[in-house]
Amino acid sequence: MVFHAGLRSHHFLLFSVILTLFLISCGDEKSEPDVGEVSDSTGVVDPPAVGTYPSTQQTIQGWIDKVDMKAIRGHGWDVWASITSPSGEGDLPVWETWYSGYDLFDDVKPGKKLTRKRFHPFTNPAQFHHQSVIKRSGSIPQNPSEQVTSFNRYTSSVAEFIWDHGLNRASVLDSINEAFDKAGTPVIDRQVLTSADSTDSKSIVLKPVFQFISGTEPTAVPYWDGISPETTTNLANPEPYTWRQAVVVDPTGKLKPGDSVEMAFNGEPKQMLPVVSLDDFYHIVLTAEEAKEFSNFAETSGDDIGLGNKGDSASVAAMVKEGNIALLMAMHVTTKEIPNWTWQTFYWAADPNDPQFGNDRPASVTGCWAHYNMKTAYFMVTPANDPKGDPFVAFNPYLETNLSGTVTTSSGEKVKWTGVNSNCMTCHRLATWKQNPGQSSPKTADYQPDGFIDPADSTLFGGYTKLDFLWSLTRSQ
Ligand code: HEC
Repeated sequence: MVFHAGLRSHHFLLFSVILTLFLISCGDEKSEPDVGEVSDSTGVVDPPAVGTYPSTQQTIQGWIDKVDMKAIRGHGWDVWASITSPSGEGDLPVWETWYSGYDLFDDVKPGKKLTRKRFHPFTNPAQFHHQSVIKRSGSIPQNPSEQVTSFNRYTSSVAEFIWDHGLNRASVLDSINEAFDKAGTPVIDRQVLTSADSTDSKSIVLKPVFQFISGTEPTAVPYWDGISPETTTNLANPEPYTWRQAVVVDPTGKLKPGDSVEMAFNGEPKQMLPVVSLDDFYHIVLTAEEAKEFSNFAETSGDDIGLGNKGDSASVAAMVKEGNIALLMAMHVTTKEIPNWTWQTFYWAADPNDPQFGNDRPASVTGCWAHYNMKTAYFMVTPANDPKGDPFVAFNPYLETNLSGTVTTSSGEKVKWTGVNSNCMTCHRLATWKQNPGQSSPKTADYQPDGFIDPADSTLFGGYTKLDFLWSLTRSQ
């Protein structure tokens, strides 16, 4: 087997350019990558071509068929270099200019045009409060201990397609599903596409994850170092608050990178921790406006917002205030260069040169962006098209580590599988829609963590409409 054990281990906003320059920061400047193309007057910037991004379906399929991890990982890094390129608006990376889930799913009125609200719409990862997103079938419940906050972003290509075809409206999805029922459409064809063709290299969706820290004093920030009793106090659900190693970030600049300082964190005894630079993280100093928008959203939506190493809403609210800092800890990224989408995920690393997940990062990734390691899932199993193939595991330590015993199936049982055995493509293949009369969210197929999913499987998809791998479409109202 070609895999490393770890890979298969069981498995706003900125009201001016000037503000942008001051508030958003990423360490050393990049000079090289092309500035992407502004797609329209909204200021949304398309991801520029970098290396192998974009690639044709045929090229990527060739890598998948050969399980060419070198080429696949190389492509994941090129996607990262592309979306983190400067947008031409100060230091703002291209991805920050994209539409948000708020724009697509919340800011919706009949006759309204798709607009881009220019602030960071911080919301909790809905993946963790499935109860509020997908009440009808259960799945992933709200997890108040989640510490980090995230929101989704969409390139103009995918956002406009969803908007123009009403795929962000429950009534439209309901009528599509009913039409499939009436016509007796074969299960394989019970789907919507979020692009005109089966692929669209300009369609990219991502989910960033932030952690809030004080803007005025040093904070111990725990980091992922794999799953063992030495690195986490919870082997099944190794969420950030269970991590046993940390670095210290001091926004005041008194402690210098390379220093050590004695601090306690996550219930671990006081210990000497290495100080790292704030510029090793993509970070946002919260403006008064962002803090206000954030609490308005929290009040009206009842969403939980995570923070630091404690996740109760009160401490979150206390942290989301002007002058505090949102550190980018992780990001899920998917591109529709292939019909099943390409899946890559990034997470902040104390050792960005991890031999499996960081060492192959090309020099085109610079500044703070070079402090994130990457995992990819371009197939569900190996061999890639073999329903009996071995599950291929790829998860993000910030986003999939809290699932065991917290996810409920449609029959009400708590799942025993863990997110550390999951595969992005497997779970996203199951993104589905079916009316759920009297409920505020649709019925969906149950999650499966890993293994092969056949889109023609009538036991999984009978009666449902497949949502082109985008779970966020279940937010449609
Ligand atoms: C067990 C199921 C599951 C797994 C595994 C999973 N996700 Fe998700 N993901 C979800 C759900 C549910 C959402 C919807 C949350 C929301 O609305 O933001 C989501 C949201 C997303 C989004 C936002 C866009 C959208 O519509 O879905 C991206 C991008 C994403 N995930 C990428 C990934 C990547 C990359 C991986 C693998 C490293 C991954 N996911 C693993 C369930 C999963």
